[in-house]
Amino acid sequence: MSGGDPTIVATDATGTVLSLRGVRRAFGEKVVLDGIDLDVAAHEVVALVGASGSGKSTLLRTVNLLEPIDDGVIRLRGDDVSDPRVDADAVRARIGVVFQHYNLFPHLSVLDNVALASRLVHRMPRRDAERRALELLASIGLAEHARAFPDRLSGGQQQRAAIVRAIATEPELLLLDEITSALDPELVGEVLALVRSLAEGGTTIVMATHEMAFAREVADRVVFLDGGRIIEAAPPAEFFGAPREARTREFLARYLTS
Ligand SMILES: Nc1ncnc2c1ncn2[C@@H]1O[C@H](COP(=O)(O)OP(=O)(O)OP(=O)(O)O)[C@@H](O)[C@H]1O
Ligand SMILES: [Mg+2]
Repeated sequence: MSGGDPTIVATDATGTVLSLRGVRRAFGEKVVLDGIDLDVAAHEVVALVGASGSGKSTLLRTVNLLEPIDDGVIRLRGDDVSDPRVDADAVRARIGVVFQHYNLFPHLSVLDNVALASRLVHRMPRRDAERRALELLASIGLAEHARAFPDRLSGGQQQRAAIVRAIATEPELLLLDEITSALDPELVGEVLALVRSLAEGGTTIVMATHEMAFAREVADRVVFLDGGRIIEAAPPAEFFGAPREARTREFLARYLTS
């Protein structure tokens, strides 16, 4: 290694897309993220699991700079994005995000929703952005709904449109926060199928999920949060088949019996 910022060289060399060190976030007395260390490799799919209130959403929000951190460092491809002087919009342009609901702008057509991201982030001309958006929508079977407003689509269709909007800009990282938990059960499968195909295509994903079967099938690594701490992180076969920590076993037992 010679010249430049050694930290950046080091992280790029290992293919680390996202790196958190000692990330801490408290709301008043309540510590919600209590020293999170996490590295996510390029093309890796990480499932964040844990009880309600364990800090999954807060963790995702800190990465997208929607939540400030009180201590620690967050790096995206080696760049310290937790530096308060960072251009938050420039960082967010590198990250795709889909939440539980209200992802699409209701006053824009589905096509405009998808095209807008490319126009804003990559300054793509309208015509090119729309062509690309239409290709993406066609790839998920929504071409015929492109001109419709989001409220004319099913919840599953809306979430799939939100996912292609999030990847339209070819982000370095995709964050998914419980993207199926507001859906009717019969619509969950189509959304998960799209996530599966992105994962197979090499998209780097960090997803908070209650869908344990899906985490088991698609994730490369399952990260279990409890009280704002990572208690255990392991490949799914190990995590579900032979969890090391008592708290993981309790969590899984509760989950399986609920
Ligand atoms: N803005 C806030 N002000 C105060 N407390 C907050 C705030 N945001 C989150 N919290 C608290 O932080 C804790 C973690 O919340 P978070 O939403 O990250 O959990 P989660 O793991 O995503 O839960 P769920 O599975 O229900 O989505 C909760 O106790 C929550 O009440
Ligand atoms: Mg949450």
